[in-house]
Amino acid sequence: MFKVIVTDPISETGIRSLTNHQEFEVSQKTGLDPDVLAEQLKDYDALIVRSQTQVTRDLIQSADRLKVIARAGVGIDNIDIDAATEKGIIVINAPAGNTIAATEHTMAMMLALARNIPQAYGSLTSGKWDRKRFKGVELYQKTLGVVGMGRIGTEVARRAKGFQMNILGYDPFLTEDRAKKLGIIKASLGEIAAQADFITVHTPLTPETKGLINADFLARTKEGVRIINCARGGIIDEQALVRAVNDGQVAGAAIDVFEHEPPENTGLTQNPRIIVTPHLGASTAEAQEKVAESVSEEIVAIFTSGSVQHA
Ligand code: NAD
Ligand code: MLT
Repeated sequence: MFKVIVTDPISETGIRSLTNHQEFEVSQKTGLDPDVLAEQLKDYDALIVRSQTQVTRDLIQSADRLKVIARAGVGIDNIDIDAATEKGIIVINAPAGNTIAATEHTMAMMLALARNIPQAYGSLTSGKWDRKRFKGVELYQKTLGVVGMGRIGTEVARRAKGFQMNILGYDPFLTEDRAKKLGIIKASLGEIAAQADFITVHTPLTPETKGLINADFLARTKEGVRIINCARGGIIDEQALVRAVNDGQVAGAAIDVFEHEPPENTGLTQNPRIIVTPHLGASTAEAQEKVAESVSEEIVAIFTSGSVQHA
C-alpha cells in the first residue's frame, strides 16, 4: 500500500485514478501548520500540493519515507528542488493542464483593466451611477508586450491577435522563425518597455526573473502603460509598481499573484488603479481536473511501473 497525502485543495474527480486504485491510500489534509505537516509527512510516500503548501528544506529533510512530491500545476517555486534532489525525491508537475485557464484569466484581467470593470461594478453596487469616471481604452491596434513566450505567453499572444493588437514577444528561447509563424515581433525587454501599451508577464519565478520588471524598467515604459501579472509574484517589484502607478507612469495594473500570498502590501491591494484577484489563474473546473489527473496518473505510473514522464 502506497500512502499519498494531499495538502492543498485539488479536484476530487481528478484524483480518482489514485483514490480508486487499491494500491493507494489517499488522505486529504489541507491547511496544516508546517510543524504538524512535518510530523505527518513522515508516514507518506507521496505528497500532492498546489501553490499554498511551502515544501521547504526542513520539511523535506524530515520526510524519510517520501519518494514523490507532485505539484498540481506549473510553478514549482514553492518546492525546494535542491533539497528534494539531495534526498532522491522525484518532483513532478502538471505543465500544461492549466495553460488555457491561466491564458483566459490573463485576457479577462487585460479587458477588465482596460475598461475599469471591477471599479465600475464596485461603484454601481454601492449605489452610485457614475459613467464619467470609468471611461476606458481599447485593445484594438494597441501594442502588447509579452514577457515569456512559453505555453501561456504564446496562447495569450494568439488571443490578443484576435483583438487586432500588435504583439511584441520577449523570451530568450523565442526564434525569429517562431515569432514569424505566430505573427508577432521578436523584441528585447527594452523594446517592450519603450513601445508597449500593455505588458503581460509569463515567465517562471527564478533568481533571473525576480524583479525583472523593476523601477528601472518601469521608468523606461511608455507613460500610461498597463501591466498584467498572472504568472508569479516577485517577477514584478511590487513597491516599484505601486510607486509607478501612484505617480501616473503606469495607468493601471492587474495582478493575480503576489510576493506573499495572501498579500500584505495594501498599496497594491487597495489601490483604485490596481485590480487584483487571489491567485485565480488556474482556478477553473476544467484546469483543476486536468492537473489533478495528470499528477495522479504519473504517481500511479511511478509507483507501479517505475516510469517517470517529466520532472
Ligand atoms: P512555460 O515554462 O511554458 O513558459 C515560461 C517561459 O518563460 C519559457 O518560454 C521561458 O523560456 C521563459 N523565460 C524564462 N526566463 C525568462 C526571462 N528571464 N525572460 C523572458 N522569458 C523567460 O510556463 P507557462 O506554463 O507558460 O507558465 C508561465 C508562468 O505562469 C509560470 O510562472 C507559472 O507558474 C505561472 N502560472 C500561474 C498561474 C496562476 O494561477 N496565476 C497558472 C498557471 C501558470
Ligand atoms: C501554477 O503555477 O500552476 C499556478 O500557480 C496554479 C495554481 O496552482 O493555482
